[in-house]
Amino acid sequence: MDFKNKVVIVTGGSCGIGAEIAIQFAKQSAKVVIVGRNEERLRNIAEQCEGQGEALAIKADLTIDSEVERVVEETIIRFGQIDVLINNAGIVKNTKIQEGIPNYDKIFNTNLRSVYLLTSLAVPHLIKTKGNIINISSAAGQKIFPTLTVYCMSKAALDMFTKGLAVELAPSVRANAINPGPVKTDIFVHAGLEGGETVIDAYGAATLLGKCSACKEIADMALYLASDKANSITGSTFVIDNGFILK
Ligand SMILES: NC(=O)c1ccc[n+]([C@@H]2O[C@H](COP(=O)([O-])OP(=O)(O)OC[C@H]3O[C@@H](n4cnc5c(N)ncnc54)[C@H](OP(=O)(O)O)[C@@H]3O)[C@@H](O)[C@H]2O)c1
Repeated sequence: MDFKNKVVIVTGGSCGIGAEIAIQFAKQSAKVVIVGRNEERLRNIAEQCEGQGEALAIKADLTIDSEVERVVEETIIRFGQIDVLINNAGIVKNTKIQEGIPNYDKIFNTNLRSVYLLTSLAVPHLIKTKGNIINISSAAGQKIFPTLTVYCMSKAALDMFTKGLAVELAPSVRANAINPGPVKTDIFVHAGLEGGETVIDAYGAATLLGKCSACKEIADMALYLASDKANSITGSTFVIDNGFILK
């Protein structure tokens, strides 16, 4: 798959799944724009991408509207176009209904509101290039997990947003989602959970295949969906979960 002269924005490209997606697109000659808040991690991944092709790192907190706007502005100033938007940045937090609204707002502002705003700003550019959108959702959008109700809600909404985008933007722009089960990243460490390092392995052990996926497996699916090989695919959600949903 060749992404030469294609401009690919990957939010949450500073670590985990997003970093691997950015590196794999760079390996296929894409011009990669990575977005995150942690400057050191962004620089590290940008350097790995630059070893393959051009990369632009944008430090931005996607829960702040003006910073979302800056992502599109800086991308257009540097590269002049957007071909693929990968909405990957996301957070997980344990929630309980009795705790009220604070974590609800944090999760929805990051996992959904920022995605809606960034996508709305990128769409005019995606229409020009007949590009496509990939939302990194979750198996948790299709099954409820104890303590993760709000996270599951945010990903279920993201799946429906993906379908709505496919309908609104056809035939110019395709939109699809990838719904991973447990993937070996530090997402639960970043959630600030005690013992966060072991949480993802416990989820992996609870799948039918008894393991986590590697970030590269999610990146491979993103490469496929963004490529011309997936020209007939829009409005679909692709579960890669080691059978997590069925267990
Ligand atoms: N790991 C899993 O098992 C799994 C399973 C299903 C779905 N997912 C989904 O996959 C996506 C990536 O998760 P991951 O496991 O790679 O997690 P991760 O390692 O914690 O990475 C999350 C990324 O999102 C960025 N991010 C978070 N909040 C942000 C904000 N306000 N503004 C800008 N960037 C922000 C982080 O960047 P900074 O820290 O630099 O801000 C980081 O690059 C998420 O949407 C997650 O829900 C993960």
